[in-house]
Amino acid sequence: MKYKKRTHTCGELREKNIGEVVTLNGWVDTRRDLGGVIFIDLRDRYGITQIVFEPHYHQKAHHDAKDLRSEWVISITGTVRKRPEGTENPALETGIIDVMVDEITILNKSVTPPFQIQDEIDVNEDLRLKYRYLDLRRRPMQKNLQLRHKMYQIVRNYFSENNFIEVETPFLMKSTPEGARDFLVPSRLHKGHFYALPQSPQTYKQLLMVSGLDRYFQIVKCFRDEDLRADRQYEFTQIDVEMSFVDEDDVFTMMEGLMKQLFLETLNVKIETPFPRLTYKEAMETYGSDKPDLRFELKMINLNNIVKDSGFKVFSDIIKKGGIVSGSNAVGCGNYTRNQLDVLTDFAKKLGAGGLIWIRVTDNGLDSPTMKFFSDDEKQNITKALNAKSGDLLLLISGEWKKALTVMGHLRLEMARRMNLVKQNSEPKLLWVIDFPLFEFDEEEKRLVAMHHPFTSPKDSDIGLMEIEPLKVHAKAYDLVLNGNEIAGGSIRIFSRELQVKMFKTLGISKEEAEEKFGFLMNAFKYGAPPHGGIAFGFDRMVMLFANENSIRDVIAFPKTSSGLSLMDGSPSLVDDEQLKELHIRVKGGG
Ligand code: AMO
Repeated sequence: MKYKKRTHTCGELREKNIGEVVTLNGWVDTRRDLGGVIFIDLRDRYGITQIVFEPHYHQKAHHDAKDLRSEWVISITGTVRKRPEGTENPALETGIIDVMVDEITILNKSVTPPFQIQDEIDVNEDLRLKYRYLDLRRRPMQKNLQLRHKMYQIVRNYFSENNFIEVETPFLMKSTPEGARDFLVPSRLHKGHFYALPQSPQTYKQLLMVSGLDRYFQIVKCFRDEDLRADRQYEFTQIDVEMSFVDEDDVFTMMEGLMKQLFLETLNVKIETPFPRLTYKEAMETYGSDKPDLRFELKMINLNNIVKDSGFKVFSDIIKKGGIVSGSNAVGCGNYTRNQLDVLTDFAKKLGAGGLIWIRVTDNGLDSPTMKFFSDDEKQNITKALNAKSGDLLLLISGEWKKALTVMGHLRLEMARRMNLVKQNSEPKLLWVIDFPLFEFDEEEKRLVAMHHPFTSPKDSDIGLMEIEPLKVHAKAYDLVLNGNEIAGGSIRIFSRELQVKMFKTLGISKEEAEEKFGFLMNAFKYGAPPHGGIAFGFDRMVMLFANENSIRDVIAFPKTSSGLSLMDGSPSLVDDEQLKELHIRVKGGG
């Protein structure tokens, strides 16, 4: 079809263009018919321009515009005029002008869309995902994708300027060690053999250090078959980084520079560096989380020393067994009703706590059904430790160290929500969580697993503990946390073959299994591996937080639903028998 191509975008025209003859191409956003004059908001990625069809100005154009409906694609030519006094629209960047149309070509009609293309729509997400191409026409989604684009560019420039090389690594590869389930791809040529999609390029980036690339980065898709949540997708994007001849401080400084630049260039926010650091133990005991939200205080206090000999047996017994009693002060919540306190107790129990001890602080002292078990000294010390004043509410949880602290951490977030402690537009709070344990005990599998991954180096001073008390070994591992979200994780790696063998041994990975799974990496280490370390950012999570969204689905063009479906193209889907046969696969029970 022959049509006039645009001379300007729909977001471009200003007062200085008044009197010009222009051509615009775009979508019909809204259409109003006022006393025979048709007003249309014409939309493209760049904005909206009002175009006007007046019968006296141009009869044919006015006649042609009568049928126009939302989402039709048109080309118009007309003259830019100043809008009549009082009809300017300050909400639009083009709001001082409109275009009087004297020629229109309809380029495409549209059936009625399943929802309106508006900033705010009240439809369920499934419908948005099914018609994602329409959802992406909406301005908030376009803004998110533009922000994402800008962040890619800043990341690329930053690393490039700092001597990093962008290298692509394979998607069809051997299983990687990040601990989630793999997505497998059957090989047609090699019957019964499978590739795994990378959970991360971890092994490849370490090999690139052996190759002497020194500084590598990649913006890369990773694939993990794990339960989906608001901040998790099967396929997600990492900014993956590795550096040679570095320690933790070098990695931190480099990444702090990146965060500084991202905040400045996207949100015009200046952030302070270096970021604060908390050890894993401090983070857990003070905030009940390894990704603490530092936008508010509501700190937790370890009360073990105060209540270890308490007449309240629950506490003293738990402490004897190596557990913890943790308390916090919900300032000013002493007026919570019994009903509200029951709701909080249920909340804690659902998360696995045995119970919740609550104490109202009154002018007459501490008020709680459990107070009769505590001595005056204990009461005084609890009051002091939690800095309690009349009108406050104290919340105490006891139990196994990690479990009790985790519940307390959730309770902390819940109280912050109820107390409205996170203010809109509050300053971003970044921190490093460091000194993670190298191992943790997997209760289900009843064995030690690597908390990060098996290539993470132990702290030099803890290497001797690996064989005797592995759970006490700290790792050279770190996470970067932004407003209570883990946005990056990494470590300094093991680069000695001997230490790597020791690591596999402690993890109960046999020589044969280690050889089978990671032999290629171990082999490479024979040829002079430099000391190295790195990090990977969850890019979708970062964009989500920068865009002030609650789900990474809102910053990914074509995400899966929370049950892993692509509602638009209907995947995953059945495939025909021929294709399965070629791949040497038979599906049990047909289908
Ligand atoms: P890790 O497993 O911590 O480290 O992943 C790095 C970051 O990726 C993000 N992330 C996810 N985002 C969305 N959906 C998911 N399913 C998902 N899983 C993880 C998180 C996380 O902080 N190879 C190591 C890095 C290294 O050691 O250098 C790794 O992948 O924001």
